Amino acid sequence: MKIILIGPNGAGKGTQAKRLCERYGIPQISTGDMLRAEVKAATPLGLKAKSLMDAGQLVPDDLMIVLVKQRVAQSDCEPGFLLDGFPRTLDQARALQTAGISIDKVIHFKVPVEVLVQRLSGRRIHPASGRIYHIHNQPPKVAGLDDVTGEPLIMRPDDEESVVRARLAIFEKDTMPVLSYYKQLMPVIEIDGTKPVDDVAREIEGALQK
Ligand code: AP5
Repeated sequence: MKIILIGPNGAGKGTQAKRLCERYGIPQISTGDMLRAEVKAATPLGLKAKSLMDAGQLVPDDLMIVLVKQRVAQSDCEPGFLLDGFPRTLDQARALQTAGISIDKVIHFKVPVEVLVQRLSGRRIHPASGRIYHIHNQPPKVAGLDDVTGEPLIMRPDDEESVVRARLAIFEKDTMPVLSYYKQLMPVIEIDGTKPVDDVAREIEGALQK
């Protein structure tokens, strides 16, 4: 199964991606997580990406397309993969098609802006694993600590409210056209992302069974 998740920042893509990848035994390709790893390792790509990411801007298409094409070519992607955060522009979507990378399912998460701002300001992550929490909606067992390792959780620098609003504006301008692009190619699964995490997971599972 080759799946794309499309949704505004904070819609729950990463949260649901982890469940779907376990369920289908496929790797999660989160371009945000890949870039954060590059930043942490201070690679040339990480150095270019850091200031753009901190400001909520997109990393240039040519860099992203090379990154994803290389990742999808790895052997663990043969049974399928889940793209979380890619494609985010029409050029990225067209590049997948030009490279002959076919997609089986596109899932669109719908969540209103004020809910997204509330979610992102409360989000905490475990940097090493990418595990995602929320101080109210999905709290860790011990406040501020990862459930599995007990290591400290952090707030992402781009979850500050003004940066969140900049990211959401970019989603409307650059990524909504990607949704229209896929709607012309295939039926897109529409998900109400405002429901509780387990309900959203059930809704997605039901839609994928059809
Ligand atoms: P990326 O890491 O992809 O960030 P994003 O798309 O903004 O997505 P988020 O991780 O913010 O949100 P999410 O939908 O995964 O929500 P989550 O599950 O965490 O990208 C970061 C940056 O990298 C970009 O800004 C850009 O600079 C760069 N980049 C990445 N890809 C790129 C590309 N292709 N091209 C160019 N640049 C690129 O949930 C959010 C919170 O809500 C959590 O706290 C969670 O616990 C909670 N929550 C989740 N679901 C629910 C629910 N149903 N009910 C209540 N709370 C919930």
